[in-house]
Amino acid sequence: MKANVYNTAMETARALIKRLIRLVEEDPRKVYHIAFSGGSTPSLMFDLWANEYKEVTPWDRMRFYWVDERCVPAEDSESNYGTMRRLLLDFIPVPAESVFPIEGTNDPEEEAKRYSDLVCKEVPLWRNLPFFDAVLLGAGEDGHTSSIFPGQEYLLSSPHPYEVSVNPYNGQKRIAMTGCLLFNAKRVIFLLTGKNKVNVVSDILNSGDTGPAAYVAHHAWEVELFMDESADQCAIDK
Ligand code: 6PG
Repeated sequence: MKANVYNTAMETARALIKRLIRLVEEDPRKVYHIAFSGGSTPSLMFDLWANEYKEVTPWDRMRFYWVDERCVPAEDSESNYGTMRRLLLDFIPVPAESVFPIEGTNDPEEEAKRYSDLVCKEVPLWRNLPFFDAVLLGAGEDGHTSSIFPGQEYLLSSPHPYEVSVNPYNGQKRIAMTGCLLFNAKRVIFLLTGKNKVNVVSDILNSGDTGPAAYVAHHAWEVELFMDESADQCAIDK
């Protein structure tokens, strides 16, 4: 697990953008399949990417997928796809056929199946499962990630690429990438900023079974953390 700490959330977002650009530049013949999480944290990254790195990103060799999605219309402010569209996708030269949103208005069980089938068809396979070049994750204060909340750890061992989960705080249904893809990805990258993430960052760094995010961080193939000092207790204790 490689932990990268930066002074501010903005510097952290810029560092992650540059990391992803370096990744896509590794092989100019390759198409890179990347799954993005939502929530509020990545919004700063999307905005900076559109405004500061649009011209230097090889968009034509990127394919956009989602780690998870709230079961709401794309126009809803809660939509992870809608948020990326409003902040990034509407401003960059990426064709619709390179963007694979989860449909938040479909029947959740049907959409989990449809999206599972879609990624199995679009993403190259390894060990007979989609092999994402990168899966970008956030983590909630309660330790959830990929909309897998504490108490829903069974989703970490699901054989189905995506399943329906439920936000326990408001009953909102979600479509969530499960462990079979999280643990099959070439790399998992966490973006963790803000002082409200200190506890989950500590769990991720120091344990491995105190919640879904910590478990994923300790069982995925290659894990990188991009954090600001607010989220990193070690930095605070200095
Ligand atoms: C979602 C995300 C989720 C997110 C964490 C952190 O749909 O909510 O994919 O897993 O990464 O909840 O959310 P914040 O960035 O809002 O703290």
